[in-house]
Amino acid sequence: MTSVTFAGVRKTYGDAVALAGLDLAIEPGEFVALLGPSGSGKTTTLNLLAGLIDADDGEIRIGGRVVNDVTPDRRDIAMVFQNYALYPHLTVFENLEFPLRARDRRVAATVVEAKVDRVAGTLGLGDLLHRYPKELSGGQQQRVALGRAMIREPKVFLLDEPLSNLDARLRIRMRRDIKALHEAIGSTIVYVTHDQAEAMTLATRIAVFAEGRLQQFASPAEIYARPANLFVAGFLGEREPVLMAGRIETGDGLAFVAPDGRLALDAAAARHLAPFAGRPVVLCIRAEALRPSRGTDGADGAVVAQVELSGPDAILYCRLDGGAEVVARADPADGFAKGDRIGLTADAARLTAFDPTTGAALRAGE
Ligand SMILES: Nc1ncnc2c1ncn2[C@@H]1O[C@H](COP(=O)(O)OP(=O)(O)OP(=O)(O)O)[C@@H](O)[C@H]1O
Ligand SMILES: [Mg+2]
Repeated sequence: MTSVTFAGVRKTYGDAVALAGLDLAIEPGEFVALLGPSGSGKTTTLNLLAGLIDADDGEIRIGGRVVNDVTPDRRDIAMVFQNYALYPHLTVFENLEFPLRARDRRVAATVVEAKVDRVAGTLGLGDLLHRYPKELSGGQQQRVALGRAMIREPKVFLLDEPLSNLDARLRIRMRRDIKALHEAIGSTIVYVTHDQAEAMTLATRIAVFAEGRLQQFASPAEIYARPANLFVAGFLGEREPVLMAGRIETGDGLAFVAPDGRLALDAAAARHLAPFAGRPVVLCIRAEALRPSRGTDGADGAVVAQVELSGPDAILYCRLDGGAEVVARADPADGFAKGDRIGLTADAARLTAFDPTTGAALRAGE
């Protein structure tokens, strides 16, 4: 297992900064997702690590060794691209053995066979070795592409959006396969995606990028529950959170007060917000942070404007009495309907406050 480190790594194209001073330390055996919108520097980071492009500045290490001047084929890495291309005229077996033969033509047939068998076994391709790529499903082709990367037993796997040309269901199944694969082989994996759900389910840690800068590097749970800034808060999660500008106030119990709405905050659950009383904040309110109820007793009053079924949840688009629009998550069995007058209780522990100017998360003691 191998560590990967970026220290002050910078890459520009003319005036355009593709990557601005990246510092990132990946532990041996980690599965790290590089997550961010288009153009944020994910592929640049991966290509720098692979040695396909050179850094302007900074140091890249693989397993402690500085690799800035090491050619790609000597970095002990394997890369699977978004548009993995299998050789159409070669069988699955031949596709898998190709990297071994390309490297050393004299490698013994028995060695090749043993390696192909092992990789095929790990990926469940054992029965497909004699088929041609066109005789495989998208997911099977994807697994062959992964197998081709695995066959040389690289120290680090680099995957750039490897599931992006699969349909939604298959992507979810492949996620599990890739996760199982990581657990089985234990290699360090760096995985580029712009799909936050993919990053959340696969990664041990997620590196969130925006505009060539690393925004946060932490576990999926940490990134979701404690986003470092407004960008991260907005980018993670199945749906965009509601961001509301207002103030934390203490007067009549702790509350978040905006010009067009008010949410009572339970003092114990809102301990992390209380120190910011009196100052303007932007509050990030995710649907699961608001609990709807039939009565408005002890809750803030709202009206259901729209109900959307989302798998096991009913998503309620609500208007607070002050007029502000918020979103709450409910159980479809509770039967909330458009026009219902409801109460909303904020689960304050799930709320994060941000500085309206810098966008940085406000945390007690920081
Ligand atoms: N060869 C190049 N020449 C000029 N600019 C480039 C080049 N490669 C990348 N860039 C720029 O660098 C920035 C980062 O690009 P990068 O490919 O790393 O983004 P990305 O996060 O992988 O995006 P996507 O999700 O669209 O693949 C972008 O603004 C891009 O236009
Ligand atoms: Mg890219």
